[in-house]
Amino acid sequence: MQYWVLAVTLAIMSVIGLAFLCVVRATAAPPWTRAERTRAALAVGLAGLGVPLMLATLRPWPHALASPQDAVQVIATGAQWNWEVAPDVIPANRPVTFAVVSTDVSHGFAVFSPGGRIIFQTQAMPGYTNRISYTFASPGEYRVACLEYCGLGHHEMAATLTVRAE
Ligand code: CUA
Repeated sequence: MQYWVLAVTLAIMSVIGLAFLCVVRATAAPPWTRAERTRAALAVGLAGLGVPLMLATLRPWPHALASPQDAVQVIATGAQWNWEVAPDVIPANRPVTFAVVSTDVSHGFAVFSPGGRIIFQTQAMPGYTNRISYTFASPGEYRVACLEYCGLGHHEMAATLTVRAE
């Protein structure tokens, strides 16, 4: 599903890029003024910098790591107002695939590093299983929290995920 979204997004971006190029070619007939040449050089330079940067930063997306056959399977179930994560002790340096579900309303499943930085998140939706894969490089106590307001006990929706060195 996520690869379809990525493919459709890239296709739409390509169409918009082509349309943009057509507009530029149709309107900016040479000879250009010095300001127009500078602007064009800046645009090309920014695109030359931006496209490789975009491609380089797309790769570390958690779902881009796919879900290998030997991934540890974790089921994360959200309910008003707690997370049930099983198993909640997982190995470091092995891919982990989270199957995220909800038994009632929509929740936001987010995993935070021991330092408190968000690592990844996905929705926990009733009647649908969202899958997300991640490889934890460092052992430690990771925190699971809910990122979508889901009622009076929203702030209590937290759990701990222990990552152990193997
Ligand atoms: Cu569950 Cu907020």
